[in-house]
Amino acid sequence: MKTALIAAQGLTVDRPGSREAALTNVDFAIAPGEIVTVVGPNGSGKSTLIRALLGNLAPREGKVTRRPGLRIGYVPQRVQIEQSIPMTVRRFLSLPRRIGNDEAAAALTRAGVGDLSDRSIGALSGGQFQRVLLARALLGDPQILVLDEPTQGLDQPGIVAFYQLIEQVRAETGAAILMVSHDLLVVMRASDRVICLNGHVCCEGTPQSVGSAPEYLALFGGRGEGTLALYQHQHNHDHDHLHDHPSQVHRHVQHSPDGCNHNAG
Ligand SMILES: Nc1ncnc2c1ncn2[C@@H]1O[C@H](COP(=O)(O)OP(=O)(O)O)[C@@H](O)[C@H]1O
Ligand SMILES: [Mg+2]
Repeated sequence: MKTALIAAQGLTVDRPGSREAALTNVDFAIAPGEIVTVVGPNGSGKSTLIRALLGNLAPREGKVTRRPGLRIGYVPQRVQIEQSIPMTVRRFLSLPRRIGNDEAAAALTRAGVGDLSDRSIGALSGGQFQRVLLARALLGDPQILVLDEPTQGLDQPGIVAFYQLIEQVRAETGAAILMVSHDLLVVMRASDRVICLNGHVCCEGTPQSVGSAPEYLALFGGRGEGTLALYQHQHNHDHDHLHDHPSQVHRHVQHSPDGCNHNAG
């Protein structure tokens, strides 16, 4: 792998206010331009991993390395907006750091919401708000975008459109993308690599290999097949990567020695 933007070795992280581990012995690395998706059940430590990788949570054990001066665009899982305070999208982008009109317009356009600059934040749909958050994360030209469940609350066409946008952002900016998702196979198709987490890394590899790994199926069963079909139907640009070839399936998955037999902590 090219020199990683962010890497972690042997990461064990406690639940806040507890000595119980939310994550145990996780190794991780993301290379420039890579799209990596973290999947796993609720409470499996996905947000904990993200926050430890960003340096917002100190690990009990292990080490996180970030490339010096790394520019990160981050959209946390929950973004609280006081809906009753009138604020335009443009003004929202200038908090907390004032930015120029050109920079704001470019970020909104890249996020597919170039026409929303003067709209009130409180009046946006869920999908529009997610794109505005993406635009804000794109300010400052990040080398890596970190998105924690960016499609929560969107309907399936909205989810599919969001991931197509993410792939486009990667193509246009070259930024690496680290995402947490519940959208399973939809997301997985947009990813170069998928990490299946359940308090530890159960398995990881290409989307196809993880999608058919026993550890993954044990956690998720057949859920997500409908969304996969939808994705393939709507996905009209070339997606014929090597790892999609049927003969490659099963070759690239890496299994954890203990699989997914135990839960976090
Ligand atoms: N602020 C918190 N206080 C106490 N426990 C927490 C807190 N945040 C997360 N946890 C616990 O840590 C574990 C991992 O949580 P989290 O990383 O948020 O999971 P995920 O993002 O996969 O749903 C869970 O057991 C959760 O209950
Ligand atoms: Mg979470």
